[in-house]
Amino acid sequence: MLISLIVAMDRDRAIGSKAGNIPWDLPRDRDFFRSYAAGKWLAIGRKTYREMEGWFSGHHPIVITRQADFEPFERGHQVASSIEQAIEMADEAGAEELVICGGAELYKSGLPLANQLRLTRVDTGSGGDLCFPDFEQLGEWSLEHSESHPADHSNAFAMTFEFWHKK
Ligand SMILES: NC(=O)c1ccc[n+]([C@@H]2O[C@H](COP(=O)([O-])OP(=O)(O)OC[C@H]3O[C@@H](n4cnc5c(N)ncnc54)[C@H](OP(=O)(O)O)[C@@H]3O)[C@@H](O)[C@H]2O)c1
Repeated sequence: MLISLIVAMDRDRAIGSKAGNIPWDLPRDRDFFRSYAAGKWLAIGRKTYREMEGWFSGHHPIVITRQADFEPFERGHQVASSIEQAIEMADEAGAEELVICGGAELYKSGLPLANQLRLTRVDTGSGGDLCFPDFEQLGEWSLEHSESHPADHSNAFAMTFEFWHKK
């Protein structure tokens, strides 16, 4: 099973804030996420899952939490106590791909297990206080493809979509 990780980070590697939000609103990146995640199995940290309440439709979300009694918002959403358990669950269900969707804490344990990375670099310094690991320094990842877009009337910042795979 393919394990991918999808994330958007700014020039300072910030992906969000402890207060709980993504510090930009970029329709182009939202559309990319929506289309990449469509119909797939998703591993989501408990805090990000709460932020995404009402968003899921046709996905197979697995919420990662250490709370044994955690109740997901909807029937059909599943719960795992670790990313490893979520991988097992998706694999046993016959999923072709599990997408690790954040947030910052889940990315840290998910990155070593991922085979590919869909990264959006957002050309701003947002001041967010949660960061994505410096994976480029690990020497394990290779950049396959990148595609840049300038800012425009509906996207306040330029962005580059990058596709990395683990060597
Ligand atoms: N820019 C992006 O692409 C992007 C994507 C997603 C989210 N975000 C942002 O990221 C921020 C949230 O990140 P966060 O780090 O605060 O929260 P998070 O990773 O979404 O959730 C953290 C919680 O998930 C559970 N968890 C995470 N990793 C675990 C593991 N390895 N094993 C077991 N449980 C685990 C724990 O839940 P319990 O406490 O219940 O045990 C933990 O408290 C928000 O600002 C959000 O908007 C940004």
